[in-house]
Amino acid sequence: MNHRIALYAGSFDPYTNGHHAIVRKAAALFDEVVVMIAVNIAKTRAFDAEAMAEAIRAAAEADGLSNVRVVTHGGLVADFCAENGIRWYVRGLRNNMDYNYEENLAQINHLINPALESIYLRSDDPAISSSMIRELMAFGKPVAAFVPAPVAALLRE
Ligand code: COA
Repeated sequence: MNHRIALYAGSFDPYTNGHHAIVRKAAALFDEVVVMIAVNIAKTRAFDAEAMAEAIRAAAEADGLSNVRVVTHGGLVADFCAENGIRWYVRGLRNNMDYNYEENLAQINHLINPALESIYLRSDDPAISSSMIRELMAFGKPVAAFVPAPVAALLRE
């Protein structure tokens, strides 16, 4: 039978409830979802990628998302998908600014890997972003309401 695998990549610095909502939707649509902490060369990480991957695994497990796998990767998303037989690339859309950014990314990824189809899922939490959480933390505000519990535990460390 055709095993349908989708990739969902991001910096996840940190992984938020907004990201987790997209993972839940993707897990309901696909046989398997690979969540990838990828490198955005324009950004410097605040939180360790391996530790964040572990927290995402715990969040998926706590929600019974048994078809979710979490990886970290330093290369191109489109190459990883080609090498691993992944044909669908899930992205979350919060607003029209996200759409413009995503369309550029989708076109570049399609040029590198023509078999890769980008799919947009609606975000239910348009106000949440990783940088908003980092900013709240910098001013000493609690952020546990915006991230899954295992991520909140990591951020407290
Ligand atoms: N809910 C809430 N927030 C969301 C969201 C959702 N559903 N989807 C995205 N966001 C937020 C993120 O928190 C992030 O916020 P921030 O800018 O405040 O940190 C922002 O939207 C952008 O997130 P994302 O779409 O994950 O982009 P990114 O910059 O974190 O990651 C990569 C981009 C990693 C996917 C991209 O750089 C990449 O593919 N890198 C690998 C190399 C590659 O293949 N490059 C492309 C070809 S050149």
